[in-house]
Amino acid sequence: MKDIKILAIETSCDETAAAVVKNGREVLSNVISSQIEIHQLYGGVVPEIASRKHIENINIIIDRALKESGMTFDDIDAIAVTYGPGLVGALLVGVNSAKGLAFSLKKPLIAVNHIEGHISANYISHKDLKPPFISLIVSGGHSHLVKVEGYGKYKILGRSRDDAAGEAFDKIARSLELGYPGGPIIDKIAKKGNNKAIEFPRAYLEDDSYDFSFSGLKSSVLNYINNNKQKGIEINVPDLVASFQEAIVEVLVNKTLKAAVEYNFDKIVLAGGVASNSRLRELFKQKQKNKKLYFPDKILCTDNAAMIGSSAYYKYLNKEFSDYKLNAVPNLELTSNI
Ligand code: KG4
Ligand code: ZN
Repeated sequence: MKDIKILAIETSCDETAAAVVKNGREVLSNVISSQIEIHQLYGGVVPEIASRKHIENINIIIDRALKESGMTFDDIDAIAVTYGPGLVGALLVGVNSAKGLAFSLKKPLIAVNHIEGHISANYISHKDLKPPFISLIVSGGHSHLVKVEGYGKYKILGRSRDDAAGEAFDKIARSLELGYPGGPIIDKIAKKGNNKAIEFPRAYLEDDSYDFSFSGLKSSVLNYINNNKQKGIEINVPDLVASFQEAIVEVLVNKTLKAAVEYNFDKIVLAGGVASNSRLRELFKQKQKNKKLYFPDKILCTDNAAMIGSSAYYKYLNKEFSDYKLNAVPNLELTSNI
């Protein structure tokens, strides 16, 4: 069969990204322009600034991705783009660029759900990985536990009822004035702390629930910080963040392993920014027993366009193409379709 090369675009949050991916698995280029330094000044992503920066950068990043792949537009078989979930103004920049390219080049347009993209990052890092498997997707905006029965075939087992896992990391880091994004910073500081120093609550919810909830934990940590500040007691930051991290990671690992056993899956696939957390990876490795564990290379855990190109390949094979009415869907969900 002919090689399929997809040019993919991702602008859902604060990374302007473009990539060329061959046959869903081979990355020919993966260009990511991060705006983190600009948003760090404000302690989080400022949507208006994100959109403006995407507009300034998008054509440069697409050109660079094409150049680095050694391809020309003629060699490309389809244009793929993230159409949600994300910031509406940010998504629109990618969606409109993709529509313009698909129209002018007369190539198929493929719309990709960002969360589905995160799962597909694993198809790039693990060339032999095929569904079915259980996937835990934990990012700044989402926490999902999903049965993946085939490419693009999902059954949602649980999701966060409030804060996403990454959001909790970011908020706690912010309250301790550690910087943005909080996840990687806490990950690093926690290595120096004792994760049993402070007993924070673990929200397992109802016995049969695979949902997550991190807002109680967040409040508990914020109360701990405020109480100690009021009493003038110095906080041991490494112990605090290690204990907080442990409370999140333990619930994520235990619920995922429980689902893998209950539904009899032997493969567990981690995805999203929080999947690069070293304690999460370590605890999964410790507790996995006879399950096989997969996570993407770190650069493919956080937002990138290569994962979008991988997802799009399987839609290309099914001829799941979009027309030019495609719009950004900021609240797009990953829904069960089996
Ligand atoms: O997947 P991603 O790049 O963007 C979304 O789709 O949201 O995830 C970003 C999130 C941020 O909340 C960030 O703090 C978190 O992933 N993150 C981490 C780590 N690296 C990134 N959280 C915990 N530990 C890390 N090492
Ligand atoms: Zn993401």
